[in-house]
Amino acid sequence: MHNIVLIGFMGSGKSSVGKRLAQSLGWDFVDTDYEIAAITNLSVAEIFRRHGETRFRSEERIVVARLSQKRQLVIATGGGTVLNQLNWDALARNGIMIGLHASLDAILSRIGHKNDRPLLKGPREEIEKLWSERQKYYVQADFTIDTTQKTIDEVVSEILELLERVGINEFTRSSEN
Ligand code: S3P
Repeated sequence: MHNIVLIGFMGSGKSSVGKRLAQSLGWDFVDTDYEIAAITNLSVAEIFRRHGETRFRSEERIVVARLSQKRQLVIATGGGTVLNQLNWDALARNGIMIGLHASLDAILSRIGHKNDRPLLKGPREEIEKLWSERQKYYVQADFTIDTTQKTIDEVVSEILELLERVGINEFTRSSEN
């Protein structure tokens, strides 16, 4: 049995969708940012502030290596997780990669003022640049769902239909085959 891995830009809904999807499937939900915070005893923002992004990425690498060995997990990644090819490969080996897409406007309005994400602190142009540069990674997902105009429940239903169609038991692409 494989994992379901949600990828996409910050604010695309990975954690909210992932939690509800896991509930529907009766699987466990994990969030890589949460795991990193638990291991380091620091919030993501604190790790960036005190130790820098390099340290965060190295903790992220360790968390991904561990989680990608498991089964029946819904994994919400951080927006930058799959930019590292090693992370992509580890997650994709045992999981279906589902990209959650959202327009930049939708992302900015979802995030609103309560912005504790270190990489979304800059002006709109800076965020737009990051968003654009990253699309080439996210589009490599096995499936992509546009969440822009949808509620969490609508996105979850779409993923469940997708899994039904694909047949998660038969979705085999692992090196064990
Ligand atoms: C990041 C996204 C964040 C978090 C960190 C870096 C990124 O996760 O991992 O702030 O590089 O896009 P979310 O996508 O859950 O906000």
